[in-house]
Amino acid sequence: MRIDVLGAGIVGLTVAEELGRRGHDVAVVDPRPATGASYAAAGMLSPAAEVWHGEEEILRLGLASMDLWPDLAGRLGVDLRRTGTLLVGYDVGDLQQVERQVALLQRHGHPADLLGRAGVRSAEPALARVAGGALLPEEASVDPRAVCDALLDRVVLRGERRPDAECTVVATGASLPAPWSGLVAGVRGEILRLRSDDPPRRTVRGWVAGEPVYLVPRGDDRVVLGATSEAHDGPPVVTAGGVLRLLSAARALWPALDRAELVEGTARDRPGTPDGLPLVGPSGVDGVVLAAGHYRHGVLLAPLTARLVADHLETGAVTAAVDPRRFAGARTEGAR
Ligand code: GLY
Repeated sequence: MRIDVLGAGIVGLTVAEELGRRGHDVAVVDPRPATGASYAAAGMLSPAAEVWHGEEEILRLGLASMDLWPDLAGRLGVDLRRTGTLLVGYDVGDLQQVERQVALLQRHGHPADLLGRAGVRSAEPALARVAGGALLPEEASVDPRAVCDALLDRVVLRGERRPDAECTVVATGASLPAPWSGLVAGVRGEILRLRSDDPPRRTVRGWVAGEPVYLVPRGDDRVVLGATSEAHDGPPVVTAGGVLRLLSAARALWPALDRAELVEGTARDRPGTPDGLPLVGPSGVDGVVLAAGHYRHGVLLAPLTARLVADHLETGAVTAAVDPRRFAGARTEGAR
């Protein structure tokens, strides 16, 4: 098939790579490739750490996509860091949040081991004294910028859509065209990039006096520190208040932050949907398939999304949980 993919973020690019591997004639259309949410993303592959009560479907989808990541990373020649995620609670209230997360995961049969203070310290000597934590041993991370660069080397980019394309895949994240624009809303995330001579060894996700924060080391001196989360209508900008909250929370967990070089602050909109699940599959308009609305999970879910889109185009298969038509009847014409 001749297929245009609109949007060169990690989702659109991964879809294009998968379709190209399956022998389709694919072009990606984006005036500013890989500069949206994928540019900001830390790259945690965290199906368990990112699942909250009421969002358990994300765990199932995330685990299925996680299984596809080693092959994708291998094909692209990018580093897949399988360090696990350390959840930490700074004070006893924060530790209750960790314990709730572990209980949720254990109910789903997912490995998660509670650690006391000493266990956290031996898992991550760079951390300050915290109330306790838990290790999620199967989680990993990638550098989304490196992934997008490698994908851009493997796909055909075009300035405009082809008039003879048989199908269009819309993968434009938080800015969907009409009539789907009302199905996504931007949830701003502010994120910082640092260089440190004493980085954590593994991804650390913590709560500090109720404030969520994460640190994602790249395995060299680079550390990504994120992220704020705020629904809003304005342009995504890095705010002084957001940076203050991130640095204060991270500093409580990781004292070496004081010596780190602050390299970059970035803000982008996460593409949030009404139920927190992505829009992957038939759009309700013939010849248009959606691969958007991945909210906090675009990097993790990229390879599964690519597989679902390609399977749908080739066989008509649809996965009900992410079928965009579940919102049929909802007002989809938004103001964006
Ligand atoms: N997945 C991390 C975030 O959205 O901040």
